[in-house]
Amino acid sequence: MKDQFGRTLEYLRISVVDRCNLRCVYCMPASGAGFDPWAELLTYDEIVTLTGYFAEMGIRKVRLTGGEPLVRPGMAGLITRLKKIPGIEELALSTNGVLLKDQARQLRDAGLDRINVSLDTLRRDRFKEIAKMDRLHDVLEGIEEALRVGLRPVKMNTVLMKGVNEDEILDLVRFAVERSIEVRFIELMQTHQNVPLDPLKTFLSVEEARAIIEKEFRLVPFDTYFSSPAKVFLIAGTNARVGLISPLSCFFCTRCNRLRLKANGFLKTCLHGKEDLDLKTLVRAGVPKEEIQQRIAGVVFTRPEQHFLNEKDVPHKDFQMSHVGG
Ligand code: GTP
Ligand code: 5AD
Ligand code: SF4
Repeated sequence: MKDQFGRTLEYLRISVVDRCNLRCVYCMPASGAGFDPWAELLTYDEIVTLTGYFAEMGIRKVRLTGGEPLVRPGMAGLITRLKKIPGIEELALSTNGVLLKDQARQLRDAGLDRINVSLDTLRRDRFKEIAKMDRLHDVLEGIEEALRVGLRPVKMNTVLMKGVNEDEILDLVRFAVERSIEVRFIELMQTHQNVPLDPLKTFLSVEEARAIIEKEFRLVPFDTYFSSPAKVFLIAGTNARVGLISPLSCFFCTRCNRLRLKANGFLKTCLHGKEDLDLKTLVRAGVPKEEIQQRIAGVVFTRPEQHFLNEKDVPHKDFQMSHVGG
């Protein structure tokens, strides 16, 4: 499956639920983000059916996201079914880690290949301020359990926030070094207007983060998988890595190989673009596979060349991160 700019689409991110057990300040207000009723979400049967269609069209990698995917019961069962779909070579999951300790082994046994875990701070009070819940301990135990059961590589995602966690950048790198894992620092993206954090005041660039890291560690460029949004560096003298994700820079758009299926069944061909196709309605109306695949191919072909986050006249206030899953 290719788009009009010759980019091959091989990676499908599936948001399995828009709910979350945290309320990260850069993602949603403390009162929540307005969640769809469960009946509006794709069922597991529908997710499996649609993933089969996508696999026939060339999707090779699937990542499950949320909201928080592990709050939806039966995730291991879904993974077992997705893993059996011919063509799907890699199955990954992005989680906030709160429920990971109890589920890591089951997820691995079901066939999950690897996980990315959000971790913005190592301090309990600060975690409570950022995520509005006192769950840091659970997240840290979840990461250790994931490593113990062999869900490697584990990657940590840290959203950079000026005046909030910039003084912990080195601590987070040390945490990664001690465990030989990768920590990725992500620039804050402006999302829905109900998000309580002002990105203009809080934005911290990956270049600023890099300067802080290089005071203590030497970063050696590391060749990573071609379409990853992260620039990856090996930390000299260790087995750990640092990834820098700069969503605003667009450097990654030219190689972007990903599609996104929202929990309510809408397909997005760009993280910051519009909803392109209502797949739930098509599936529930019994539209034949070939016709659905044709519709998918049509919106994929015309997907935009890049996002327009840097254009001040195009506000992105309708974009709710927890409904798309990053
Ligand atoms: P890997 O498969 O390990 O490379 O994971 P990933 O980076 O694809 O997934 P993850 O869920 O860990 O996402 C990390 C961050 O990258 C999130 O903050 C995403 O919002 C951001 N990101 C992922 N895809 C895109 C994209 O298409 N465009 C932009 N601008 N940012 C993205
Ligand atoms: N800006 C940057 N990254 C974000 N994430 C969630 N909201 C934002 C935002 N506004 C990150 C989470 C998670 C990943 C999937 O997306 O930290 O790790
Ligand atoms: Fe939940 Fe992730 Fe949003 Fe935090 S960033 S509130 S963990 S969906």
